[in-house]
Amino acid sequence: MSSGNGPEQRPSDEELAGMSRDELVRLGAKLDGVEIVNYPDPWPVKGTRAEKRAQRAVALWFVLATLAGLAFIAALIWWPSEYVPPEDDSGHLWYSWYTPVLGITLGVSVLALSIGILLYTKRFIPNELAVQERNDNMGKGSAEIDRKTIVAQLADAGERSTIGRRSMIKRTAGLGAGVLGLGTVALPVAGFIKNPWENPNSPDSLAHTGWMPQYPGEIVYLRRNTGNPEEISLVRPEDLDAGGMETVFPFRESERGDPHALSAALKRSDNPVMLIRLRTEDAERVVKRKGQEDFNYGTYYAYSKICTHVGCPASLYEQQTNRLLCPCHQSQFDMLQYAKPVFGPATRALPQLPITVHEDGYFIARHDFIEPIGPGFWERKS
Ligand code: FES
Repeated sequence: MSSGNGPEQRPSDEELAGMSRDELVRLGAKLDGVEIVNYPDPWPVKGTRAEKRAQRAVALWFVLATLAGLAFIAALIWWPSEYVPPEDDSGHLWYSWYTPVLGITLGVSVLALSIGILLYTKRFIPNELAVQERNDNMGKGSAEIDRKTIVAQLADAGERSTIGRRSMIKRTAGLGAGVLGLGTVALPVAGFIKNPWENPNSPDSLAHTGWMPQYPGEIVYLRRNTGNPEEISLVRPEDLDAGGMETVFPFRESERGDPHALSAALKRSDNPVMLIRLRTEDAERVVKRKGQEDFNYGTYYAYSKICTHVGCPASLYEQQTNRLLCPCHQSQFDMLQYAKPVFGPATRALPQLPITVHEDGYFIARHDFIEPIGPGFWERKS
């Protein structure tokens, strides 16, 4: 706040101490060169039915914000979010509404809270008309008089807004904002409700993927996605040309005829693997990773498709340079050097899946990846 008049027009400290808040407000306005032209009380007669009606209308929006916020939190925790194939009509319908329900409830909560605030401002805040001359107080800092008058003005604005005596609005606004705040905190915290390390040997832990055999000796085939989860198309070495690449997913005989399990294997985010067949002259130059010398099958190499930067699918294979490009942030991985990053923000090589060919002629995984796939996470050691 700046004072626009000369010191001769200012009251003494004693006079200042004896002034009422209203006088201080007017003095502050005057010192700032502000002329209050009109300062009407929106409800000059207190407690009328119209005033109560306006109050209830505002509270109603805050109650709606509260209910929508609670619905958002409830949907986040309890709505079925796990994929259900379309064959199960009712289950699929519930599943397909998960994301829309989150969006709708959060949107309604924010919208209702905003409307409540706007309505309150419109109906209860005095619509004053004031004219102010601009003055920067010659670059000097705020004086005691400026501080006192601005505090008085703020307190006056608070009282004239009548929020202090409108407990219904205060309570519902607090509730609405509180629940909405809780919802925004719940979003990042929800991921921690289930401990991913509860059973580190489970295929669902961050250290394992769908390539992990579910019992000793289980055969996990490499299959392609034809668009129909129930159409099982396994991969043989002769299916790929030299320099070719194919995205593959795990398949186990126990899942045949089970649409849910077959769909889940194609949708699980850590399952996609790139099967690459190097050209013979390129394969001769391959540098293998220590301890993974036998993970390939001849000129065939299989790597996780999940970028080690932040997890995009890295699938732009450039045959001439034997580099794999991740389209998200342009990391490049050298497929002749165990898919180590040679450009861009990724810092770790793509994990390699050990493969071989089964006696029936189809590719199989020898076991799961020996390291977590995808981007880093807090407990990851490498
Ligand atoms: S996610 Fe691949 S480079 Fe960023």
